[in-house]
Amino acid sequence: MAAPKKLYIRTYGCQMNVYDSERMAEAMGGAGYVETDRPEDADMILLNTCHIREKAAEKVYSELGRFRALKADRPDLKIGVAGCVAQAEGEEIMRRQPLVDLVVGPQSYHRLPQMEARLREGGKALDTDFPPDDKFDTLRQRPRTRRGPTAFLTVQEGCDKFCAFCVVPYTRGAEMSRPPARVLEEARDLVARGVREITLLGQNVNAYHGAGEGGDWGLARLIRALARIDGLARIRFTTSHPNDMSDDLIAAHGDCEKLMPYLHLPVQSGSDRILKRMNRKHTAEGYLRLIERIRAARPDILISGDFIVGFPEETEADFEATLDLIEAVGYGQAFSFKYSPRPGTPAAERPQVPEEVKSDRLQRLQALLTRQQRAAQDAMVGQTVGVLFEKPGRLPGQMVGKSDHLHAVHVTGAGLAVGDLATVEIVESGPNSLGGRIRGA
Ligand code: SAH
Ligand code: SF4
Ligand code: F3S
Repeated sequence: MAAPKKLYIRTYGCQMNVYDSERMAEAMGGAGYVETDRPEDADMILLNTCHIREKAAEKVYSELGRFRALKADRPDLKIGVAGCVAQAEGEEIMRRQPLVDLVVGPQSYHRLPQMEARLREGGKALDTDFPPDDKFDTLRQRPRTRRGPTAFLTVQEGCDKFCAFCVVPYTRGAEMSRPPARVLEEARDLVARGVREITLLGQNVNAYHGAGEGGDWGLARLIRALARIDGLARIRFTTSHPNDMSDDLIAAHGDCEKLMPYLHLPVQSGSDRILKRMNRKHTAEGYLRLIERIRAARPDILISGDFIVGFPEETEADFEATLDLIEAVGYGQAFSFKYSPRPGTPAAERPQVPEEVKSDRLQRLQALLTRQQRAAQDAMVGQTVGVLFEKPGRLPGQMVGKSDHLHAVHVTGAGLAVGDLATVEIVESGPNSLGGRIRGA
C-alpha cells in the first residue's frame, strides 16, 4: 500500500472555520490523506481563510507568498484556498496567484475529494457554489478525528441580517439550520468519543430553527434535548444576535443546568444613530433591557461582546455612547475592532472616519473593557466553580481548564487528567488565568 499523503491545514477566523477544517481533514481522509502539522512535509496545503476584516483577508496573500518557495522545491505540492476569502475572491485568486491549484468555498468543501482527483489529472479546481445538496449529510459519513473533551458542533450557518459592515451574508450565504435529529446524532457520537462539552456554532446561532419532530425547533428546545444526553456535561452556543434572544432561550439560561453561564451577545455600538446606520435593528436601550432579563434568569451569567469603533460617520458623542453602554453592562469578555471597509458592503461606500481617530477610540475602548474583564476575573476569587480540564499546564503536575464562565483556571498537584470535570475553589487571579484548588469531582 502506498504511504498516505499528507495534508496541512491552516485555519484563520472564527470557530466555524475550526469546525470546517476538521470536516475538510476528515473528507480528505477518504482520499488517502492524513494530517500533518508541518507544511514542509505536506503533499497538499489548505488555507482555511477569513474575510471579515481587510487584515484577515490580506494574511492569505502573505501566507501564499511564504509557500511559494516550498512549491518551487516540490512542484507536486498542491496548494488550496478554502473558507470566506475563497468564496469572496476565489476567481481572482485563481487568476492572480498561479501557485494556487484549488479554491473551495465554505458550502462546497464536501466535494474536496473529487476536486483533488482533478488536480491529480493535472488540472486546477474551483468550486464556490452554494450547492443544494447538504454538505453536512455528505460529511456525516466520515469518521470523526476529533480528540479531547471539548468540541464545536455547527448547527446553523449563514446570515440574513445584512449588517451594513459585514461580509458574512455574502461569504456564507443565507441562513440555514441543520435538522435537530442530525445535531443530536452528531452530539451523541462526540460524547461516545469522550467529548464532555459541546459548543453549538452558528453565525447567528440563536436564530436556529431546525425542522424536527412536531415542527420547527428553536435553539432552546435543541439545547434541552442535548442536555438529556448522558455523559455530556456542558453546553455553550455562539454567536447570538440580540433580536433573536427568545424568551425560551433566556429561560433555558435559568433552568438548564448544563447550559453554561456565559453569553456572547455582540452589540457593536452604544449609539442609536450608529446602530441604525449599521442596520442592527435594535437600540442601545433595547439591548440593556435584554441584558437585564437575561441576568434576572441567570444572575451570575458572564456577558461577552463585540464592538466596532470608527464606523462611517461615528462622532465623538456616538463613541461616548458606546463607552456608556459598556459601563452599564459590565463585560466579562470582549472583542473590539476598528471598522474595516469591506468591498461590496453598503458601509464601505460611506464617509470614513480617519485612521488616527479609529486608533484613538479603539485604545480608549479597550482600556475600559480590559478593566472590566480584569474586575470580572478578580471577582471569581473565593468562589467555587466547575472546571473542565483540557491540557497539562506549564508547571509539573499542573492542569489547565475552563471554568463554567469560560475563565482559564490552573490547578497544581491534584492528580487530574484531561477530561476531568471538578469543583474548584478559586484562590488567585493572575494576568491571564485563575488559580484554584480542588473541592470535589
Ligand atoms: N455573526 C456574529 C459575528 C460576526 S463577525 C455576529 O453577528 O456578531 C465577528 C465580529 O467581527 C462582529 O461581531 C463585528 O464586531 C466584527 N466585524 C464584522 N465586520 C467587521 C468590519 N467590517 N470591520 C470591523 N469589524 C467587523
Ligand atoms: Fe454579520 Fe450582522 Fe450577520 Fe453577524 S448578524 S454575521 S454581524 S450580518
Ligand atoms: Fe471570517 Fe468567514 Fe468566520 S469571514 S469570521 S471565517 S464566517
